[in-house]
Amino acid sequence: MGRSFRSMSAAPRVEDFKRRNGLRHPASNSAFTMSERGGRFFIRREGAGADPMEKEIHYVLGSGNRARSYVHRTAQGRLLALPVTWYSENGGHWGMAPGYDRPDHPHFRRKIGFDCMFCHNSYPRAGPDPDDPVYIGALPEGIGCERCHGDPKQHLDQPRAGTILNPRRLEPERQNGVCEQCHLETTSSPLPAYMRRFGRGVFSYDPREKLSDYLLHFDHAPDSGYDGKFEVVSAGYRMRKSACFEKSGGRLTCITCHDPHAPARTNDSACASCHAKDHGKGPACASCHMAKRRPEDAPLTTITDHWIARNPAALSAHSPSGGYRGRVVPYGESDPLHTLVANAGSEAVALRSLVDATANPPREALVALAAVLHRSGDSETALRYAARAIALAPEDPAALRRYALIRFPSADAAAEAVRLLPNDAALLTILGEALRAGGHLDPAERTLRSAIEADPDVPYAYVNLGVLLVRRGDKAEAARRFREALAIDPGNAAARNNLRLAR
Ligand code: HEC
Ligand code: HEC
Ligand code: HEC
Ligand code: HEC
Ligand code: HEC
Ligand code: HEC
Repeated sequence: MGRSFRSMSAAPRVEDFKRRNGLRHPASNSAFTMSERGGRFFIRREGAGADPMEKEIHYVLGSGNRARSYVHRTAQGRLLALPVTWYSENGGHWGMAPGYDRPDHPHFRRKIGFDCMFCHNSYPRAGPDPDDPVYIGALPEGIGCERCHGDPKQHLDQPRAGTILNPRRLEPERQNGVCEQCHLETTSSPLPAYMRRFGRGVFSYDPREKLSDYLLHFDHAPDSGYDGKFEVVSAGYRMRKSACFEKSGGRLTCITCHDPHAPARTNDSACASCHAKDHGKGPACASCHMAKRRPEDAPLTTITDHWIARNPAALSAHSPSGGYRGRVVPYGESDPLHTLVANAGSEAVALRSLVDATANPPREALVALAAVLHRSGDSETALRYAARAIALAPEDPAALRRYALIRFPSADAAAEAVRLLPNDAALLTILGEALRAGGHLDPAERTLRSAIEADPDVPYAYVNLGVLLVRRGDKAEAARRFREALAIDPGNAAARNNLRLAR
């Protein structure tokens, strides 16, 4: 786990940048080339009906035991996931990153959010906006001691037993929580699979506290076809389905079988601590009762299914494809307001009643409610809740963006928000569009150019600037802007249509 995030220069070379350094991806009509030049590493895309794009690899995510993904750091401090991964199976090969083997994958524009960082690294220094993560200074490299042992300050002042957390001494549920801060993912589908308690900062969890005081989990509703799903970060989720866990009163913990200081080895006598008189002669118990299988969300690797079963082969069941639209249900501890926010799309009415009945509703709930009301067309009510969120936290980017969007195409709200957050690319884009809609072309153009400067990796500001330039008669730069938008997002229909018209 100490090797789960590293700079490319510090990571040993396991991948092939010379002989087998190409990857074709017919589904997205793209071809990728991985190359080394002067000790630096690059991934380049051609095809996709767009200009070529190349980005440097700055960091490696994943130890490479099974897979290694690559990360680019932008001049502004954002991290972008790169679309190609190195898989160690069969002597090693390049493949599309998990989730990218489809026609409309995100190419080079997917941000590495605080969620990836939370699980793969020690806490980095970062700007305050979880929706637009900007990292500050050098990044830590790998998970540090404090993630399982807590803040070491007291221990360093008084270095003796009892001044630092030893997870072994926690009761079982808490012990699992230390590992499950990173190893419990109820699903990788785009559900709200987990949600931080309102008011909690991303990098604020301390292993000395109960995990559910920080994070609440949600799952697909039962009998919706997902009960058998087998996904990559599933050790905690699958373990909890085992009879061994359920029927031992939760005594089974990760460190029953694993020593996190020697994670590659599992404790073969672990089963015997509960199954004294069983048959197992010969191979290790896990080789028959814990299958190694291909997870549905990362089919180019194999991982261990932690649902311990009589006959693991009988467990395999595929999730339906096509996307889940149903409700999510709480998994473990729950709180009604968080559950309604997780289901805001289908439960706006109930969410509104609960927010109204709550003495001091948190800003996260107010913003979520404003968003669903806005989407349902009730802008007037939406505005009231967004304004209450801003009153609670005047510089909250999510609240300010929502407020500016509800007021669109009026430029006032966006201009006010931009005064507070002058480098917020989303707000700059909203303001630029509002100014353009109002016919104020000069300030609109300046604002859209600063939006691109603030974040050059989102396509919208390019498209909007291009449309404005067409109106001003500068077809050459307009066409260039549409092509830049397409290089970022080859599937962007607005960019493609406008490019045709600009010719
Ligand atoms: C801060 C997040 C975090 C915490 C806390 C954490 N892990 Fe991990 N763990 C990871 C990540 C990320 C990986 C994948 C590393 C890789 O291969 O890149 C991993 C990998 C592992 C592996 C596989 C190692 C291998 O060699 O393949 C084991 C076993 C493991 N963790 C057990 C535990 C146990 C037991 C605990 C609790 C005591 C724990 N982890 C706590 C993030 C965490
Ligand atoms: C909830 C915590 C969590 C989040 C969020 C998360 N990961 Fe992981 N990731 C893990 C753990 C734990 C493993 C170890 C394998 C396992 O448990 O199946 C892992 C494994 C990996 C591996 C394979 C490493 C190996 O050799 O096995 C890669 C690559 C990876 N993650 C990339 C990412 C990227 C990119 C993101 C963000 C989009 C991300 N992960 C988000 C916890 C997480
Ligand atoms: C992924 C979680 C995790 C990380 C990261 C981690 N540890 Fe541990 N550590 C544990 C657990 C769990 C135990 C208890 C193991 C046991 O008793 O089997 C432990 C035990 C120890 C012990 C033995 C304590 C005793 O009372 O016997 C020491 C010393 C220790 N860790 C130091 C460190 C140091 C130093 C680091 C950073 C380099 C570190 N640990 C990182 C989880 C972790
Ligand atoms: C913390 C105690 C504990 C540990 C450790 C443990 N088990 Fe279990 N296991 C149980 C209990 C309790 C049951 C349920 C027995 C019953 O139904 O009467 C169970 C049930 C099982 C079953 C039957 C499953 C089913 O669905 O019917 C298998 C197979 C099994 N265990 C194998 C293992 C293996 C293999 C290991 C080690 C990899 C292991 N167990 C570790 C407590 C444990
Ligand atoms: C009953 C024993 C047992 C328990 C309990 C257990 N594991 Fe494992 N785990 C294993 C075995 C066996 C392997 C496969 C080891 C190998 O291939 O060498 C494994 C492998 C892993 C791996 C490596 C990646 C993979 O999937 O092959 C990770 C990560 C992991 N376990 C995390 C956890 C976490 C986190 C918990 C607690 C939620 C946990 N394990 C609980 C037995 C256990
Ligand atoms: C060679 C494969 C294999 C190995 C190794 C193995 N088992 Fe089993 N185990 C089985 C099979 C097959 C069954 C019966 C499944 C059934 O009932 O359909 C079983 C059943 C079980 C059961 C359920 C028994 C019952 O009567 O309810 C437990 C518990 C169990 N095994 C534990 C273990 C433990 C602990 C080990 C290691 C000491 C182990 N097994 C090693 C194949 C294996």
